[in-house]
Amino acid sequence: MTRAQAAALDARDPLAPCRARFALPEGGAIYLDGNSLGMLPRATPERLRTVVEGEWGQGLIGSWTSAGWMDLPVRVAARIAPLIGAEPHEVMVADSTSVNLFKLAAAAVKARRPRRVILSEPGNFPTDLYVLQELAALIPGLELRTVAADEIEGALGEEVALLLLTHVHYRTGAVHDMARLSAAARRAGAISLWDLSHSAGALDLDLRGAGADLAVGCGYKYLNGGPGAPSFLYVAERLQAELSNPVAGWMGHAAPFAFEDGYRPCGSMRRWLAGTPPILGLAALEEGVRTFEGVSMAEVRAKSMRLSELFLDEVEARLPGVFARACPRDPARRGSQVSLAHPDGYAIVQALIAEGVTGDFREPDVLRFGFAPLYTRYVDVIDAVDRLAEVMAQGRWREPAFALRKVVT
Ligand SMILES: Cc1ncc(COP(=O)(O)O)c(C=O)c1O
Repeated sequence: MTRAQAAALDARDPLAPCRARFALPEGGAIYLDGNSLGMLPRATPERLRTVVEGEWGQGLIGSWTSAGWMDLPVRVAARIAPLIGAEPHEVMVADSTSVNLFKLAAAAVKARRPRRVILSEPGNFPTDLYVLQELAALIPGLELRTVAADEIEGALGEEVALLLLTHVHYRTGAVHDMARLSAAARRAGAISLWDLSHSAGALDLDLRGAGADLAVGCGYKYLNGGPGAPSFLYVAERLQAELSNPVAGWMGHAAPFAFEDGYRPCGSMRRWLAGTPPILGLAALEEGVRTFEGVSMAEVRAKSMRLSELFLDEVEARLPGVFARACPRDPARRGSQVSLAHPDGYAIVQALIAEGVTGDFREPDVLRFGFAPLYTRYVDVIDAVDRLAEVMAQGRWREPAFALRKVVT
């Protein structure tokens, strides 16, 4: 595709106006890493200034009531709900994804006692496996079992309490069939828990329609909530009375300011709060999620598939045989990213960043390019592949400086 053809696609892109909702980096850099850290929404700095200087600085503790801080987790959750196909009363925002994984996994295992197996897949995102390993170590008899993706349904026996899967794989971008696997888990009497970190804000999710039981996901990736933004969690309405938060903090109590000795969980999703809500992070996340206002998630997904397909087509046409494809070829089976494999992947990504195109690298050899549909243009894809072709043609990635590993890859 020529740049002019890509510009024509941008000109008729219904999501094109959304790009103005973001503070773009200076110098025209192309950002293909919104799957790791979303861009800064234009409204966020002013919102944080208001919260810090006005609500905190002037309102002080009264702002918990007057500025609505106590309800902020509920408000942000209500904004996330339509993006994931949930009802507002099924979502809460709290803690990190890792912590929410622990809370929901532990609750599910408790609810399905005496079943003693948690099922997941090898190569799942590390935090998911680590949390489950330690949960299994905490509860005598509990076991984490990992099986390959195509063996999951067969492994859903009567001893399985919980199936935990990441919907879009962080390294390969492969998408699981949420409806099929949630149904299989349910048939086996197990609870399904989905990590939506690489799905929320990029795919057209329908948790209710898919029959998913539980879910968690990051606020700082496609939801644009900022570094370390709070995470969201989902509990299907039908399971809410049955599940209890193992991190039973005072903010999840039915009456936090009654200061009772005994824990009485709140009847709503507030029970999934533990400690005091992080107001600065929640305010930034609210602005991040507001960048989706008026946006159809079906259009977001359609554009996400077109962008990644264009990138892959161009790489295959212009750099044949240079990279191995490390993601599914069918865009419907691929999240909003393209993964390419190359033994010198790290240095190539660093050289590309020096040329103004940000992607990232995942061990052992994967170059990862994410396409956030709200701010990525078709011309960005063409320009990014141009620069990748230059980096490869000139062997610029061979400069020794590009091989030095940074803390964050
Ligand atoms: C699939 C997946 N799950 C969980 C996490 C970690 O989330 P958190 O840092 O909020 O615990 C990440 C982070 O990249 C991720 O990609």
